[in-house]
Amino acid sequence: MTDSQNSYKRVAVIPGDGIGKEVIPEAVKVMNATAAAGGKELKLTDFDWGADRYLRDGTTLPADAVEMFHRDFDAILMGAMGDPRVPSNIHAADILLGLRFKLDLYVNARPCVMFDRKFTPLKDRTEKDVNFIVFRENTEGPYVGLGGNFKKGTADELAIQEDVNTRKGVERIIRYAFEYAKAKGLKRVCMSDKSNALTFGHDLWQRVYRSVKAEYPEIEATHQYIDNLLMQMVRDPGQFDVIVTTNLFGDIASDVGAQLAGGLGLAPSGNIHPGQVSLFEPVHGSAPTIAGKNIANPMGAILTVAMMFEYFGWADEANRIDQSIRMALREGKTAAELGGTLKTTEVGAWVANQVAKGQAK
Ligand code: NAD
Ligand code: IPM
Ligand code: MN
Repeated sequence: MTDSQNSYKRVAVIPGDGIGKEVIPEAVKVMNATAAAGGKELKLTDFDWGADRYLRDGTTLPADAVEMFHRDFDAILMGAMGDPRVPSNIHAADILLGLRFKLDLYVNARPCVMFDRKFTPLKDRTEKDVNFIVFRENTEGPYVGLGGNFKKGTADELAIQEDVNTRKGVERIIRYAFEYAKAKGLKRVCMSDKSNALTFGHDLWQRVYRSVKAEYPEIEATHQYIDNLLMQMVRDPGQFDVIVTTNLFGDIASDVGAQLAGGLGLAPSGNIHPGQVSLFEPVHGSAPTIAGKNIANPMGAILTVAMMFEYFGWADEANRIDQSIRMALREGKTAAELGGTLKTTEVGAWVANQVAKGQAK
């Protein structure tokens, strides 16, 4: 349960692997500075889960973790999971996907918002053109790990990876997208699937979408196949307010959307079960080739804190972070990804200082 009795919020911090270990400390700096500036109290607890810990003692997601998060935490802030020394990616599957599934975090909210036109690769596009959110189903699809191998490693081998779609799972994410649009006064929802080829699983998406959209006549509800959707996102991103799609397609669409908005390192996300402990993380991964160099862009991780604060109902604090990032972008206080010369730690320090100055309103 989200702790509504206490004035403070309890946040588990899991930096994870690679640049997760560099961007999360910067996000924590900004998180603490913002909470202090807004008179809010946080209780942070660090967890060292990730590849190092797995290679040391085999720990991935401890057996009591899910119960502990439900009982003792309001939110989780995570960096990234993935390390070349663990080619099976087993720890990421257990920890990241494990938490998404076991905490039933069925909404993966990935806003694609262009903060500053300087950073979009699109020609002649401005901030109003990229301002949409992708709602990715987060507990089903081919991610559930249902399948197996037969005659593995032989010339006759077979590999099966089932794509799981349930009426409950499809309906709740589609409904969430419409409710979000309604609450925010947005007029357009676009559902994306591949029902022309996946005639069982994605036909379910079609049928559920038809019935849910009928409940929201004030919202223009459209559909695009995923191949067309990705093309349209590049061609004319201004046509979208809310996109709702499957787990796998949402993974792909949100990386494309992140780059259209300015860069993968700028993109935040929330893995949410409304009213329950939820997990917030940047969209990017552990970026092993740039890890350990203090050059990663920490802004996606910092904006992830803003999403978490929004989830807590701390709108002023979320806005303070948002405005400070906008100012950093305007003034070129950026890391190499965005053409700047600042180190990861310098970007974090600049933004933390900015939120503390209280000039963000
Ligand atoms: P990635 O997101 O780590 O990197 C993709 C590209 O973007 C790379 O060129 C990287 O250098 C760059 N990049 C990413 N974040 C950046 C940042 N903050 N600043 C500057 N540049 C940044 O994706 P990948 O290379 O496909 O995957 C690397 C590892 O991360 C894999 O093990 C993968 O499974 C894992 N991964 C984890 C998550 C997660 O935990 N949520 C998400 C994506 C990938
Ligand atoms: C993401 C990542 C994960 C996903 C990987 C690490 C399993 O790419 O969070 O976007 O595909 O969901
Ligand atoms: Mn991804």
